[in-house]
Amino acid sequence: MMKSLMKWLILAVISSLIAGCSMSSTGEESTDKHSENGMNHDMSGMDGMDGHMDHDNPLPLKDSNGFNELAVSPLLEKNTAGDVDYTLTAQKGNQLLLEGQTTETYGYNGDFLGPVLKLRQGETVRIKTVNALDEDTTFHWHGLDVPGDVDGGPHNPLKPGEERIIEFNVTQEAATLWFHPHPHGKTSEQVYKGLAGLLYIEDEHSDSLNLPSDYGINDFPVLLQDRAFTKTGELNYEAAYNSDGTLGDRLLVNGTLDPKLSVPQGKVRLRLVNGSNARNYTVALSSGDSFQQIATDGGLLNEPVAMDTLKLTPAERAEIIIDFDGLQDVENLSLVDDQGTILLPFAVNDGQTSSEIPAKLNSFEVTGEERNLPVTKRLELFGMMDMVTINGKKFDMNRIDMTQKVGETEVWELTNKPDPMGGMIHPFHIHGTQFKVISVNGKEPDDNLKGWKDTVALEPGDRVKIAISFKNKGVYMYHCHILEHEDNGMMGQIEVN
Ligand code: C2O
Ligand code: CU
Ligand code: CU
Repeated sequence: MMKSLMKWLILAVISSLIAGCSMSSTGEESTDKHSENGMNHDMSGMDGMDGHMDHDNPLPLKDSNGFNELAVSPLLEKNTAGDVDYTLTAQKGNQLLLEGQTTETYGYNGDFLGPVLKLRQGETVRIKTVNALDEDTTFHWHGLDVPGDVDGGPHNPLKPGEERIIEFNVTQEAATLWFHPHPHGKTSEQVYKGLAGLLYIEDEHSDSLNLPSDYGINDFPVLLQDRAFTKTGELNYEAAYNSDGTLGDRLLVNGTLDPKLSVPQGKVRLRLVNGSNARNYTVALSSGDSFQQIATDGGLLNEPVAMDTLKLTPAERAEIIIDFDGLQDVENLSLVDDQGTILLPFAVNDGQTSSEIPAKLNSFEVTGEERNLPVTKRLELFGMMDMVTINGKKFDMNRIDMTQKVGETEVWELTNKPDPMGGMIHPFHIHGTQFKVISVNGKEPDDNLKGWKDTVALEPGDRVKIAISFKNKGVYMYHCHILEHEDNGMMGQIEVN
């Protein structure tokens, strides 16, 4: 009781501070509107669940009992006729998730979640995007180098019943990206209901490496999302809502509750995608064995990095290789989190898969020149719950916060300013490009951050320098990828011209 009273007092002080500085900023109107409806939620959150997410002790997840084989999303088929290559429709659906109960969901081209869209470097694709929902949505290609007008930010909503054909060139290297909606203020709810899909990019170089790449056999998508179900089996976003990030006690992997994954003996590639609204996962093998990380958000690492644990904050991705031949004990083997919760049990079958992971995978480099560039942009992340800001401001669609010249590399310095309660991790994401992490708190980043990134986690007090350039022009968002923070205005815009 005392503790929550204390929190409330501290929050009240912070909120009046933020209200104070927003008076002088240009985002006055939207700030006021935001805090009004935000406050209602926060109050109800206060006596129900804890309002501010306790990042040391988040709501625990239930173990997966492994009753259901992991769903492997269908690959989106390319049209053989007509003038568009692919069609993606955001639609409503129903899914049997909890036993005997149907759940109302959203999905792309189906009831729940989406297909995997596989693209190749060098191709030009035309995608027809269709909104069959009762509300506005957008199609955002998270991690893709595309011009701002096809990036699917909040500027370009599709109204119910509308469709739009977009076209872009795939220029970047092989990577595991994803797509999800980005409508103003509604991203978190739409993702929560099931709008998310994976986007793979392939290229000749990655083909030549002979990595495990038989889709659904030794190469699996692993989309991690936590959800809270009501007693009647529904996903009720309002009821589960937490302004510091909505959490659930049940893990869905590729939309499968209580999943298990049957794998062959040998090396298996898992493409881990944290598609949760707010939960961080620190994954490990239950046996304590290490595994190899081979890719970051936007491409392959230079060499495999042996990992015992791997932390993924919302929107971060990692490709890992687990060698099921090289493990001591494959009975009762699972992917677990840092609480020991079983996320994904494995069943190793009689199948064989053979591939060698090359020692050299890529040629990613932070150049000396990039390292020596002066910092030209500084972004300070601050706050919690509804009181989240970047450089003291909340998102305003009518305000461009920064500009950068197309093709020019700049160094940005990101900081996460702690608050009186200690602060929390903010996963910081930038649209329309991939960037390089130069340093974390003045030091070399960890080996598994030495690859292309579009989302980087900042712990309270952290200072991260990145080298970033945009290949295309347009207006792009940058924001915290705790989706409730994003919707609460922890977002800004950069115009690349
Ligand atoms: Cu996953 Cu604004 O992005
Ligand atoms: Cu994005
Ligand atoms: Cu945040």
